[in-house]
Amino acid sequence: MSQRQLFVTTALPYANGKFHIGHIMEYIQADIWVRVMRMQGHEVHFVCADDAHGAPIMIAAEKAGVTPQQFVADIAAGRKPYLDGFHISFDNWHSTDGPENHELAQQVYLDLQKAGLIETRTIEQFYDPDKGMFLPDRFIKGECPKCGAKDQYGDNCESCGAVYSPTELKNPYSALSGATPELRTSEHFFFKLSDPRCLDFLAQWTNSGAVQPEVLNKITEWLEPGEDGKPKMGDWDISRDAPYFGIEIPDAPGKYFYVWLDAPIGYLASLKNYFGKIGKDFEAFMADPSVEQYHFIGKDIITFHTLFWPAMLYFSGRKVPNAVFVHGFLTVSGEKMSKSRGTGLDPLKYLSLGMNPEWLRYYIAAKLNGRNEDVDFNPDDFQARVNSDLIGKYVNIASRASGFITKRFGGQLGPISADGEALLSHLRDGVAPIAELLAGRDYAKALRDVMALTDRVNEYVDANKPWELAKKDGLEGRLHDVCSTCIEAFRVLTVLLKPILPNLATQVEAFLNVTPLTFANAQQALGPGHAIGDYKHLMQRVDPKMLDALFEPPAEPVEPKPLDPDPNASLPGGEALAPTITIDDFAKIDLRIARIDACERVEGSTKLLRLTLDVGEGKTRNVFSGIASAYSPEDLVGQFTVVVANLAPRKMKFGVSEGMVLAASHGDEKAHPGIYLLHPAAGVTPGLRVR
Ligand code: 2FM
Ligand code: ZN
Repeated sequence: MSQRQLFVTTALPYANGKFHIGHIMEYIQADIWVRVMRMQGHEVHFVCADDAHGAPIMIAAEKAGVTPQQFVADIAAGRKPYLDGFHISFDNWHSTDGPENHELAQQVYLDLQKAGLIETRTIEQFYDPDKGMFLPDRFIKGECPKCGAKDQYGDNCESCGAVYSPTELKNPYSALSGATPELRTSEHFFFKLSDPRCLDFLAQWTNSGAVQPEVLNKITEWLEPGEDGKPKMGDWDISRDAPYFGIEIPDAPGKYFYVWLDAPIGYLASLKNYFGKIGKDFEAFMADPSVEQYHFIGKDIITFHTLFWPAMLYFSGRKVPNAVFVHGFLTVSGEKMSKSRGTGLDPLKYLSLGMNPEWLRYYIAAKLNGRNEDVDFNPDDFQARVNSDLIGKYVNIASRASGFITKRFGGQLGPISADGEALLSHLRDGVAPIAELLAGRDYAKALRDVMALTDRVNEYVDANKPWELAKKDGLEGRLHDVCSTCIEAFRVLTVLLKPILPNLATQVEAFLNVTPLTFANAQQALGPGHAIGDYKHLMQRVDPKMLDALFEPPAEPVEPKPLDPDPNASLPGGEALAPTITIDDFAKIDLRIARIDACERVEGSTKLLRLTLDVGEGKTRNVFSGIASAYSPEDLVGQFTVVVANLAPRKMKFGVSEGMVLAASHGDEKAHPGIYLLHPAAGVTPGLRVR
């Protein structure tokens, strides 16, 4: 297959909250697909951005006492640990408030205007006289016109389910100020989606295979005539009046684009920003008809992406998406998620508990079939699947065979006989169809097929029992043959799991001493004489205690009490707080992330461990730490911690200590023994500053 050029996005998250597990599920789904495409040799540009504009963000920023720009920047600053932590391989993360988006949104609008698809109309809307602004529907409340329920939003009643317009509410009030809103007129801009040209184009685009059949079913009704004979699709109000955090409409002072007009243009803006960084021509790329464009989104934003967005692109003379891939929602133990609060599964908490991100990638992949269906996270099922499939079936193959290769055959693979070859060719025949399932986003079926292959390999191991061959004389050759078959089988299975478990695959590549695995090189065996490295345990089992901790509700917030003057009152951690310092005092302490590369007991000391730390300086540091009572050296190797990196070196009895690692303990260590080394969340690298 010739190399394709792909432009792939996930939906741009609103910059008014942290990621919840629903975002992470979408990113994992898209990331797996992107990795599949890359492993097939295609050129993929995978981007995302913060969706920065709109009234809710403007209002939230005002409440927080910061500018909307600062508010959005603060949210953006928190994105990295999630993306790195779950191995999401975006090429770029940008913002819809970036200069590229301002320029592109205005250009798209002017192109639509030139096409005769923009018109202005005067509309009546509720205005908050206290705040001096028109109110978005969500900020108008009142009594339901149907059932009389109080405090209902301006668009629908949560009590009886009625749908209405805000002007129908009884006794309306502004949710911002409590004031009674006034009806005022204002000129708004509309994108004429009901124009026959738009309807014709959308009928053709939606039926071109660009959307899943279940999505097509949902959207076709908009293109059909309603009872009055007119198409159900109305024109789309794309403007908002100042004050608004958004992009100004050209030649229309005080008018801004509605956030949903500039949000998807943010896909293009992020790509343009990325191409600026890597020196690639954005205009030429987007003008190339062979370039394919794909968007991964959730089922709540189908209309924007499958009707409004393709029409915006087409009538502004731009490339239209080849497909929009819609997924369902993630529920946790059957419970629905709220868009703003997510579920009880907090992704950062997951990482900070030391839970392996690839467990979640695997579990989510095993549940995604490429259709617009909800996915449930069930903790018991999660534990059972990860432990039985990944550890019990897959990782075990390597751990059972590699020791013999290392100890008995100098780490070299040997010749494989007919039964081994038969097994391997069965596995290799599975590669193309499974890659096809992955490319078709049916990860669930792909993984069922991978596990069926894994079962076949384990049957071969059980039939040949290398641990018994190893004990018998004269069966060296057969032992070598069986273990070499297992290692080669493990390599082929790793190729198939690589898009889902990229970090594990990198470890396997190092262990097998091979270049990065692709679907193509699954077909050629490593062959006799190939030397593999030492096997290090590849993955831990899920510990049910971790799941208990993950779902443990956060402690009830305690009402802050005024500082108690009584020095004997309860002291946090058994000691009074140290005197107040300024931020400048704190800035003097340079805290860095360190990886513990080696660790050993110190002869002549029961308290100290000697740590060899990588602090990202291109050389290691020697640090002594009084944590020997709490940790064995082997527990710590490979772990990350925090080091005071600018502490003056201290000459100790056993050598010089070049820093200090951070650990927590009680003020009264005798009465409350326990020392707890600090660990940062997953995704960190040596040398990052802690601030
Ligand atoms: O629903 C949402 O979370 C929106 N912020 C998605 C925008 S996707 C794209 F259009 F930018
Ligand atoms: Zn009602």
